[in-house]
Amino acid sequence: MIGQALNRVDGPSKVVGRATYAYEHWEAGQPLYGFIVGATIGKGSIARIDTESAEQAPGVRMVMTHLNAPEQGARDESIPFEYWRAQPELTGPDIDHYGQPVALVVAATFEQARAAAGLVDVEYTGGRGRFDFAEQEDEVYIPKVVNAGLPTDTAVGDFDAGFDSAEVRVDQYYTTPYEFSQPMEPNACLAEPRDEDLFVYVSCQIVNAAQASVAATLGIDPERVHIVAPFVGGGFGSKLGIHSETILAALAATVLRRPVKVAMTRQQIFQLVGMRPTSSQRVRLGAGQDGRLAAIAHDVTMHTNPDVEYAEQTAATTRSLYAAPHRLTSHRLAPLDLPRGTDVRAPGEAPGMLAVESAMDELAHALVMDPVELRIRNEPTVDPERAVPYSDRHLVDCLREGARRFGWENRPATPASARDGRWLVGYGMSAAIRGHFQGPTTARVRLEADGTAVVQTDMTDIGTGTYTVLTQVAADGLGLPPERVRIDLGRSDLPTSWGSGGSWGATNSCTATHRACAALRAKLLDSACADARSPLHGLDPADAVFSDGDVSIAGATEALSEIVARGHPEGVEAEGQVRYMGDDPNYTDYSINTYGAHFAEVGVDVDTAEVRLRRMLGVFSVGRVFNSKTTRSQLIGGMIWGVGAALEEEAVVDSRSGAFVNRDFAGYLVPVHADIPDVDAVVLDSYDDKANPLGAKGVGELGICGSGASVANAVFNATGVRVRDFPITIEKLL
Ligand code: MOS
Repeated sequence: MIGQALNRVDGPSKVVGRATYAYEHWEAGQPLYGFIVGATIGKGSIARIDTESAEQAPGVRMVMTHLNAPEQGARDESIPFEYWRAQPELTGPDIDHYGQPVALVVAATFEQARAAAGLVDVEYTGGRGRFDFAEQEDEVYIPKVVNAGLPTDTAVGDFDAGFDSAEVRVDQYYTTPYEFSQPMEPNACLAEPRDEDLFVYVSCQIVNAAQASVAATLGIDPERVHIVAPFVGGGFGSKLGIHSETILAALAATVLRRPVKVAMTRQQIFQLVGMRPTSSQRVRLGAGQDGRLAAIAHDVTMHTNPDVEYAEQTAATTRSLYAAPHRLTSHRLAPLDLPRGTDVRAPGEAPGMLAVESAMDELAHALVMDPVELRIRNEPTVDPERAVPYSDRHLVDCLREGARRFGWENRPATPASARDGRWLVGYGMSAAIRGHFQGPTTARVRLEADGTAVVQTDMTDIGTGTYTVLTQVAADGLGLPPERVRIDLGRSDLPTSWGSGGSWGATNSCTATHRACAALRAKLLDSACADARSPLHGLDPADAVFSDGDVSIAGATEALSEIVARGHPEGVEAEGQVRYMGDDPNYTDYSINTYGAHFAEVGVDVDTAEVRLRRMLGVFSVGRVFNSKTTRSQLIGGMIWGVGAALEEEAVVDSRSGAFVNRDFAGYLVPVHADIPDVDAVVLDSYDDKANPLGAKGVGELGICGSGASVANAVFNATGVRVRDFPITIEKLL
């Protein structure tokens, strides 16, 4: 079962509309609707807020502002992960970014709430803030820590000496813009008070974090907060934590003692959910004429909201990618009065690899060396900064296999030398690497007396395929056909997981399920082999085979359902666990990563400089694969996002107000089908025995790592023009 291209088990329920998303729950009866009123300045204070006309508008039940909002818990920085902290709203008159909620209007219908929101009259003082990254770039400070608890700076050897004495040097700055997750399902929440309890139907990636965060904000016992998130329409980091809509719905529901729904509009998501910080990255590479790197430095400056420090791990993958004796990495923050930065798919790794893999292409060009060969020459034998072995590194295999399948030997050796009609044609490539992580997760597997299995964990399925891969792992673990496995996810009353995020979700929950199945098999064999009524009585459990719903030992067979019905008429269950990676020696003794190689061919219109992707291939090594179809979809989705990062995506700040001017899909461009003609992802066979007993690693964020650089490098190969200010829009090529 494991590895097969099983169709999504939740596909039919989504197609016929039976999959219920946060805003679609009706269990609570007729709810009230809340609409968020956002600040129209970027920095300053509310001088006066007049809610009278809004309160008198048809259907309005309440207008909540900082003047009447309940007291809430404060953000507690001693809680190690941001998403488990309180997220108070409407706490006072101060405005620290454009769009910040200043009121929630609650009414009988959504339209009434939205209409009345327009009647809330706010007068502000101030308005001028620090909105321009270029102006603040020198006002930097060192973050306390980089995302995921990584060190801000690293140094190995003597970078200056190594770089100064190198025969060939690249020293360039690359910039990347504000980018957003923007899943199809907007952030939404239904909060329903029931006696002392609060039920929160919310679109989120980590149920346990949502529970902790709501409880800490409202000052109630987490046991009294029940999170329900069976279906989530995409996350990409933007739903790792909860946001204003959840807290405001919960506050209003608690005050009014009624169910309250709040969803963000697409424009509000641009101002309220957080974005990938903008970055300026200096990359220095020093090499000999033979292409061997002597020195690598990657120094990153990015924006942060001054109140909520966030530093992407932009230089983190640079620490493990190539060998070189002299190395430096650093992360710095420039405070701006903009929404907080937050995790967006492959936080840091995506913009970081865009810069570093562009710089590697510049180095190959300076050396007059094939870019694939340059990377192979710098393949390390151990992790060059951590000085520990790699667990299962197949970067060179990905590079070679990708080059062969793509026809890399046909790459125009000289930039701007190949034409196809009006198109200048170019090939580009990039390496990919991403760390693999593991976090505390429990799964419970139950066998019912009718012989069906149920997997239970608070893990979410954000569209990635959790329901499907858990079905496969449980079917494999108990020897059941997949139709006899049911998956129960996304509720806080189920065993706790680290949720979907960081590309750890599938491996955490599948490993915990795999272990639960092993424990359950042992329980079943204990009872069968000791039971005189079983055909397996007295046989050695070590020889048992679970297959097709039966258990067989040395020729004797009994149906699983028989064993359960006789020995465990109430059903039988077992749990499996995964521990925090910091407590797992494999994760401290080995550098555990996933790898890939991207190859892209572009055409650039010789007159208009319009860039068209012609084809793209990624070859990846991710350990064992749970489902070849969902894995390929994850990787391709990431690759396409990388194309957008290279060519299209960019949120632009209005330097007068701190608002994002292009805060909708008309102005914020992402690739559409017509932009993506021919993309394929291939996964090499491998098995990482250090990652977990299934040998599997994360895939969700690997696909975007490096993919944009392969497109950027193809644009250079097509035109001879190197653009270092992403995205590569037409005017930068003319
Ligand atoms: Mo991912 S950016 O951790 O959802």
